[in-house]
Formats: sequence, structure tokens, C-alpha cells
Amino acid sequence: MIDKIPAATRKNAHLDLAKKAVPLDHMPHPLDAITLPYCALPEANLSTINISTSWLGKQLQAPLMITGMTGGTSRARKLNQFLAAAANKHGIALGIGSQRASLQASESQAELRQLAPDIPLIGNIGGAQLAAEGGLALAQCAIDDIHADALAIHINPLQEAIQPEGDHDWHGVRAAILAAKQTLSCPILVKEVGAGLSFDVVDMLASDGIEMIDVAGKGGTNWAAVEAARQTPNASQLYEPFLDIGIDLPDAIRGARQVGEPLFIIASGGIRHGMDASRCLWLGADIAGIAGGALRALEDENGVCHESRLDDYLSDFIQQIKLSLFLTGNQSITNFRKMARICQNYVD
Ligand SMILES: Cc1cc2nc3c(=O)[nH]c(=O)nc-3n(C[C@H](O)[C@H](O)[C@H](O)COP(=O)(O)O)c2cc1C
Repeated sequence: MIDKIPAATRKNAHLDLAKKAVPLDHMPHPLDAITLPYCALPEANLSTINISTSWLGKQLQAPLMITGMTGGTSRARKLNQFLAAAANKHGIALGIGSQRASLQASESQAELRQLAPDIPLIGNIGGAQLAAEGGLALAQCAIDDIHADALAIHINPLQEAIQPEGDHDWHGVRAAILAAKQTLSCPILVKEVGAGLSFDVVDMLASDGIEMIDVAGKGGTNWAAVEAARQTPNASQLYEPFLDIGIDLPDAIRGARQVGEPLFIIASGGIRHGMDASRCLWLGADIAGIAGGALRALEDENGVCHESRLDDYLSDFIQQIKLSLFLTGNQSITNFRKMARICQNYVD
């Protein structure tokens, strides 16, 4: 195990390692098993396929979100600024990474709202931090700082448990989420960070009145792998048995859809392209979320940001969603969802 190191150094290491070989090359990708029904006679026009949808009272041009990545360092700040401008340009939602570090350093990220005035902008705070003293006040500051449309509370026990610097006491996190739901000034979204929310956890959250979740399943950014690499050499041996822990993204979406309450489901965790996003919508997700892929598109291996690369990546991604609708014979996302509900036999 390594000694505790400064937060900024750790966050930079996470960014560098998340850009590398995750998902793990030797593991089969769980979304490859999902086949969309090809239609050779589509009653549709590719150039007018409509994939717009609405969320949090705002119109999205595509059922897509860039989910929260990091915060509290100058590098994270720059990345979030590029992501905000790109998300606003493409009309997709944006989540920002944990706001704890920036708020505790009294640094505002208000510029993100200015860069992204038209889209849902989602704040972010950790569940374990919410449960700590002053957690609710911190969460309200996170919302106020960026005029968030919703606040994401991340629950990430795997990621925290394998970090020497992590939060290891998870007592009271569920109660803190419930208190946040009852007192904060905007809707709450609960998310994992790549190991997935199980049916049981989603069921508990739904019974507490949570209406939006990001299942953030296994298949993409793998925090056991990231930490094993960051803490080498001894940690690889320690964490090796945990590389495969978690819930594959398709199972997490199916599980969440089986929960009796109506839920807005975001699917993230290894979505590689627009076809994967459509596979998730097919399984019952409302929108798809991307993190690692957007980071790799934006920042190269030398840490240089390429705005145009991110722009191309998002354009292709959105076009791929349109293509997959066309090739399943659907003119709109509404039709595609209807077809999926019938074929998959779920209610949303
Ligand atoms: C570098 C990096 C930092 C992240 N930081 C956060 C965070 O601060 N808060 C959070 O809720 N999720 C965080 N995530 C998790 C993502 O939002 C997402 O749920 C997860 O990476 C799965 O998506 P992916 O496979 O497309 O990367 C982070 C992901 C990456 C890659």
C-alpha cells in the first residue's frame, strides 16, 4: 500500500490512469452481447431522425450526458470548462466532478454555468462526505455555486475502500441522502462511479423517494485497476481479486428498470460510441452517460486539450445514435423506446 498523498497529486494520477487501458482489454465488453433488431425496410429518413428529449425542464438534442469527472485542481477546472462549452454546443447534459475540494478551497466554478447556460448542469458531491458533519451545507453550496439543475451524490464504496486516502466509514450515508432529498433546493441524482448500482440499492433509493439514478455499471473506467496501477507494486496483488467486482452495465440497467417506482435512468460505465448508447436506451435507460471516452477525446497523452477532437467525437457519437435508430426502423427516440419496451417487456 502507498502512503497518503496530496489530493491534487492523486486526482492528476486518476486522470492520467483513467485515460489509459480501461476498460481492461482482456475482459469481454458487456455491451457487445446486446444486439439491436436490424430492419431492412425502415419507414424512416436518416437525415430527419429526431433524437431530442427533455430532462429537468430543458431540451436535450440527444439522449446523452457527459458525467462528472474530477474537480478541485487547475487541470480539472480547465477540463470542465472545455466539457461545458462542448456539451452546450451539442445540446447534451453535463455533470461536473466532485465539488468538495474546490468548495473547501473557497474556489467558485460559476463560470461553468456561463459556459453552459442552455443545458442541464449537474453538481456533484460524495455520499460519504454528505454524511459527514457539515455535509448538507456543503451540498447546498455545490448547488448554489453553479446554479445546478440537479445534484449528483456519488456512492463509491469500492473506490473509497481501495484508496488509503478514501472514506472508509459508510454508516449513515443512506440517511444523509434521504435528508438531502428532503432539504436541498434542487432534485437529487444518485450515481455510482463504475461498479454499478444493484437492483437492491436502486430499490432502497427509490423507496426513499429518489427519482433519478446513474447506474454507472462495470465495463468502463475500473477504479480497482486505476488504484492498482497508482499504488504499485504491492497494491496490484492486493486488489487483483477485486478487478471484476461490480455489476455489468446491461445488468444494472435491467435491474433498475425492474424496480417498481418510475425512475429516470442514466446509463454510464463503458459506453464506447453511439451504438452502445442506443443499446443502453434499448435496455431501458433514459439517457446514456460518458466519462472516460470524453476525457480521452479531449486530452491527449501529454495533457494537451483538443477542443476539435472532442467536438468530432461528440458529433460522431450523436450521428451513431441516429444511425442505430434508422437501422432499427425508427424515426424518433419515442418510437425506439416504444419498440424497446414491447421487445424487452418493461414499463417505464
Ligand atoms: C477521471 C475520472 C474522474 C471521475 N470523477 C468523478 C467524480 O468526481 N464524481 C463522480 O460522481 N464520478 C466521477 N467519475 C465517474 C464517472 O462519472 C462515470 O460514472 C464512470 O467513469 C463510468 O463511466 P465511463 O466508463 O464512461 O468512464 C470519474 C470518472 C473519471 C474517468
